[in-house]
Amino acid sequence: MKIAAWFVGLLLVVLTGFMLFTAGWERPPIKSEQTGYRGTGMVDVVNPRTEATMMSSQVAPESTPLPPDAGPKAGDIYENVQVLGDLSVARFTRLMQSITNWVSPEEGCVYCHNLNNLAEDSVYTKVVARRMLQMTQNINDQWSDHVQQTGVTCYTCHRGENVPQYGWFNSDPAVTPVGGMAGWRNGQNRASPEVGLTSLPEDSFTPYIDGAENIRVIGDTALPSDNAGATIQSTEATYGLMIHMSEALGVNCTYCHNSRGFSVWNESTPQRATSWYGLEMARALNTEYVSPLSSVLPPHRLGPTGEGLKINCTTCHQGVNKPLYGASMVADYPSLAKPTSGTAMTRSEPSEPASEGISVAAETREVEPDTASRAAMMPD
Ligand code: HEC
Ligand code: HEC
Ligand code: HEC
Ligand code: HEC
Repeated sequence: MKIAAWFVGLLLVVLTGFMLFTAGWERPPIKSEQTGYRGTGMVDVVNPRTEATMMSSQVAPESTPLPPDAGPKAGDIYENVQVLGDLSVARFTRLMQSITNWVSPEEGCVYCHNLNNLAEDSVYTKVVARRMLQMTQNINDQWSDHVQQTGVTCYTCHRGENVPQYGWFNSDPAVTPVGGMAGWRNGQNRASPEVGLTSLPEDSFTPYIDGAENIRVIGDTALPSDNAGATIQSTEATYGLMIHMSEALGVNCTYCHNSRGFSVWNESTPQRATSWYGLEMARALNTEYVSPLSSVLPPHRLGPTGEGLKINCTTCHQGVNKPLYGASMVADYPSLAKPTSGTAMTRSEPSEPASEGISVAAETREVEPDTASRAAMMPD
């Protein structure tokens, strides 16, 4: 009897030790905040201590003072400015200095320029940077449904690195299986950090934020038997994407969903509608800007399918609900807020989700989240 009591005691001590000293356990007090209807479990849980560390790593660098937009234009003075020609020389020079700080602080101007001839486009990074300038202007001008007035600058993604720390490559569809058919993983079962170290498909990005496959999988008939419903495979890919979105923002599913009805828009939070635009935006950025740039990149920048590193939610968000906790750097860089000379470009309209592979009833569902009912979704 006594031995049993000892044993139980020892076991408790060991388990407590595991609980206290291994990863995944955070000591109280933990803050929680209700974000949905009472009783639906829609709460955000944050640990004030990890949040403090996060806050110190998400600080926007200070901007230099904005010089007046007077005097000669860059387009009149320099030989080869295709995007920033309307800027005054003073503003142009300041922007060159800033992009150097944001993208190549160690290498300096030489990362993009042949210093003997700044007008030359011989360094590939300059060609990429010109397109990135247009992409940044396009995000801020055309995607305010998502980035609001906060907007983005090069720093949002690059944070002092040549290539952003977070992104993804299309996985190689032709990877040969080890041990014949039996060894074919079908792109899953290899714990991947992208999907929270689960065995879900590792590449949930190719179908949804590169291609435009249907993310929606929930049928709205009971026990659908007509073979028209979503497959388990595509459901797993949707789940993988959802885990990515949660991790990218440092939130859980209930930040966007009421778990009693994952598909129901008018019971979801406004953040879910914002995310819908985020998905459309990430897809547009990858197909219109990043993919076409692959042809100018050197081989060591390319992934297994010969394309460059692409954008996902983490590229900008890096673990928090608003990149840099919502600090707006664009306010200090008006030239990045909208297209400048010769770059007017419209956003391609979001594609309607394909109805293929999902039950007929789904076609009648709202395509765009219903914004009118957003007010009604707020907690009381
Ligand atoms: C991340 C890449 C990048 C870095 C770093 C960079 N530039 Fe540039 N630079 C560009 C691009 C892109 C253009 C062309 C802009 C356009 O087409 O509107 C350009 C154009 C110029 C021009 C105009 C040249 C001409 O005659 O056409 C000057 C001058 C210039 N940069 C100076 C600098 C200086 C000085 C630095 C360092 C403080 C610097 N740049 C750092 C990308 C860069
Ligand atoms: C939305 C995220 C995002 C923003 C904003 C962004 N970039 Fe990028 N950038 C990327 C990604 C992803 C890559 C890698 C893919 C590629 O090289 O095409 C990249 C690559 C680059 C490269 C090539 C680096 C190398 O060594 O191969 C340069 C140069 C660059 N960006 C400059 C800029 C400049 C300048 C700005 C601001 C005007 C900017 N970027 C804004 C995401 C972004
Ligand atoms: C940041 C917001 C956000 C988070 C966090 C999030 N989701 Fe989603 N979820 C969405 C959006 C937006 C869609 C709709 C995509 C579309 O319709 O194109 C969606 C769709 C879904 C669907 C498909 C609904 C349908 O109509 O078939 C499921 C299932 C789902 N999410 C589950 C989850 C789970 C489980 C989690 C947590 C692991 C989660 N989501 C986390 C935003 C989010
Ligand atoms: C180009 C950079 C960029 C990308 C890529 C991006 N976001 Fe955002 N997102 C932002 C910015 C900037 C804001 C802040 C807008 C504001 O101030 O309200 C934001 C805000 C949000 C919000 C609102 C947060 C809140 O608490 O109100 C959600 C939710 C969100 N993003 C989800 C996503 C998801 C999901 C993805 C990937 C599908 C994504 N974002 C991709 C830049 C980006």
